[in-house]
Amino acid sequence: MKVVSTINEIHAARRSFSGTVGLVPTMGYLHEGHLSLIRRARDECDHVVVSIFVNPTQFGPSEDLSKYPRDLDRDLKLIEPLGTDLVWMPTAEIMYPQGYQTWVEVEAMTRSLEGAHRPGHFKGVTTVVAKLFNGVQPHKAYFGQKDAQQAAVIRQMTRDLNFPLEIVVCPIVREPDGLAMSSRNVYLDPEQRKAATVLYRSLSAAKDAYDKGERDAEKLRQLMKDVVASEPLAQMQYVSCADYETLQELENVTGKSLLSMAVFIGKTRLIDNFVLE
Ligand code: PAJ
Repeated sequence: MKVVSTINEIHAARRSFSGTVGLVPTMGYLHEGHLSLIRRARDECDHVVVSIFVNPTQFGPSEDLSKYPRDLDRDLKLIEPLGTDLVWMPTAEIMYPQGYQTWVEVEAMTRSLEGAHRPGHFKGVTTVVAKLFNGVQPHKAYFGQKDAQQAAVIRQMTRDLNFPLEIVVCPIVREPDGLAMSSRNVYLDPEQRKAATVLYRSLSAAKDAYDKGERDAEKLRQLMKDVVASEPLAQMQYVSCADYETLQELENVTGKSLLSMAVFIGKTRLIDNFVLE
């Protein structure tokens, strides 16, 4: 497994590949969710590239950039046995050298949900992902359904800018009690860790109601709010029942839809979602 950092190095390594290339972009501190994307890429592509870069431009001024968990040695030990060919770990200076001034921005669909509560977040995500695509020039890039809006925004960017690659979205990997795996789960103390299952519990309650025939989106949103409100350590930021592609809030659930939410457990902000087919 080769590890590179500069743009020249990633381009040279890319040129040495023949056959299909799969890219798995990450910010490191890897868990089973990330590893599931790498395994999928390994199954589907001749070469697998994993990028590890804690992208400063997608963090807001009051967010956790400086304390975002990092452990590169551990990450490399997790990645290698999965058959990864190449790891790209650029520095912030390599990605954003002095004088940097070009941004990629997806418009309408970044204004709701995560975008409404994290101004500038998706501009940072789409810019860095476009740069990762240009560096690696993959045939397929792998993202998790865990970050449902991110996946939708990147699909939109890929279509709009004609990136010649396929976006593959992989299912959410969960802990046995339903909590979606996240690098941020390490911030939770044992009591908060128990309370954090409230996201899964409230999504499950709405999904059960949907399965029993409930199609009123406001009723589904209210059900999710009620379950979150029943957990003393949880503070709801938003709940949503939206169209899967456009992310517009729904009145009635007719086609493929997304139940999603952001909840604070103490100072830790967690997100989760279910897809209604
Ligand atoms: P990061 O949070 O490290 O996540 C990297 C990828 O892993 C994302 O596509 C995310 O959706 C996926 N992932 C995270 N938890 C998952 C889980 N429990 N199950 C399945 N997939 C999961 O998302 C980012 O980094 C960044 O925004 C990035 C795309 C790398 C751009 O900087």
